Amino acid sequence: MTESKEAVRGEMDPAWHLMPEDQADRVFGQDMCDIDPTFLGFTDIYLALSHIIPTHWTVVDLGCAYAPQAHIFKNHKAYIGVDASDCERFSAPNTTHYRMTIAEFIEHHAGALNLDQTFAICSYVPPWYGADNLRLARENFKNVFTYYPAGTLQEFVKWRQPITGERE
Ligand SMILES: C[S@@+](CC[C@H](N)C(=O)[O-])C[C@H]1O[C@@H](n2cnc3c(N)ncnc32)[C@H](O)[C@@H]1O
Repeated sequence: MTESKEAVRGEMDPAWHLMPEDQADRVFGQDMCDIDPTFLGFTDIYLALSHIIPTHWTVVDLGCAYAPQAHIFKNHKAYIGVDASDCERFSAPNTTHYRMTIAEFIEHHAGALNLDQTFAICSYVPPWYGADNLRLARENFKNVFTYYPAGTLQEFVKWRQPITGERE
């Protein structure tokens, strides 16, 4: 646990309680892993979305990274994680992982989905692998959440301060 992450969160990640211990050991034990129990990723966003996405829908997580959010959506019809990186990821019984770019997933697999009952999430995903990934998500899914932060660190600290208690 790094000091800076402790300072920002001051406690465990809000989704930490959902992580099976054996999977946490497997994911955290890999080389160069940059998440830990205080910061699993931007799980606040996934937790919020889990309350508004119907549980009989499929969730497609474009740029899922280590996919701790697989456990946030474990009661949904299916959770599909898509990421080009080669790493150990979290998985629930309804999880399928695709190790490929978002553009490749859309080209080869999106056609098999019922888009009326599929919700795509593309959150904190930079324009890597030569693609504007947020635009791809918006153009190919009708139910979709895309987000990438912009602004100064000071503005973000001020915005989060009431929740996290961190200092400006
Ligand atoms: C900052 S992480 C975000 C993880 C997660 N979405 C979250 O909000 O916690 C960005 C992830 O996007 C993935 N990524 C970036 N461009 C991609 C692309 N074109 N296709 C697939 N994955 C991509 C990276 O490999 C990385 O795991």
